[in-house]
Amino acid sequence: MKPGDAEAVEQLFNEAAPSYDRLNDWLSFGLHRQWKRQMVLQLAPRPGEQWLDLCCGTGDLALALARRLRPGGGVVGVDAAAAPLAIAAQRSAREPWLPVHWQQGDALNLELQDACADGALMAYGLRNLADPAAGLRELRRVLREGGRAGLLDFNRPPSGTAAAVFQRTYLRRVVVPVASRAGLAEHYAYLEASLMRFPDGPAQQQLALDAGFREACHCPLAGGLMGLLTVWA
Ligand SMILES: C[S@@+](CC[C@H](N)C(=O)[O-])C[C@H]1O[C@@H](n2cnc3c(N)ncnc32)[C@H](O)[C@@H]1O
Repeated sequence: MKPGDAEAVEQLFNEAAPSYDRLNDWLSFGLHRQWKRQMVLQLAPRPGEQWLDLCCGTGDLALALARRLRPGGGVVGVDAAAAPLAIAAQRSAREPWLPVHWQQGDALNLELQDACADGALMAYGLRNLADPAAGLRELRRVLREGGRAGLLDFNRPPSGTAAAVFQRTYLRRVVVPVASRAGLAEHYAYLEASLMRFPDGPAQQQLALDAGFREACHCPLAGGLMGLLTVWA
């Protein structure tokens, strides 16, 4: 599959949706939850605020946000693919008191007003966008002045480093074989391909500044395997 092809990416996540959460837990040894928790703590969403979870998938982050935004606040979870959103909706139905809404839409062209959000999160989404720079510009548009956002994704460690060698080996020797048991080998092979075209940390910082953010800071996590881009509007 060609990274950057929006229709193919949507199809990929529709097909992967039923196994997505289980594979995520297995392949990261549950650590994706800790990295997401770290991002939420750092961004410190407060009761009463309006937040977005962009590329929300099956909605784990949106639900975590919604629990923190009560009373008075709320979160909109946006994803391009219908199947993960359907799982997100089933999850939120188990906690109907949570202020969360799901919207099928494109993170590059959000059906949201300018400056409507106090904050936003995007986990493992930016890398999947056809144009990450345009995604950051759209994110800037929907954040109010003074708003903040966290974007968690795989990091691209400098080539030749131990982290880069480990990451490539892990993606090829563990991720793809494990995913193939769920019939998703090609879907997860796409991960390495998408990472190849993903800007590294310093380039992400520059893209965010070019998109109009006042400040941008990219921090490697998990020994450089993951990265957290934090931006301030
Ligand atoms: C790797 S998943 C991450 C899901 C979730 N945020 C998580 O951390 O588990 C990437 C998600 O981005 C969504 N996506 C990809 N391109 C998108 C776009 N242009 N607009 C909105 N969502 C998109 C996919 O459908 C998929 O659900």
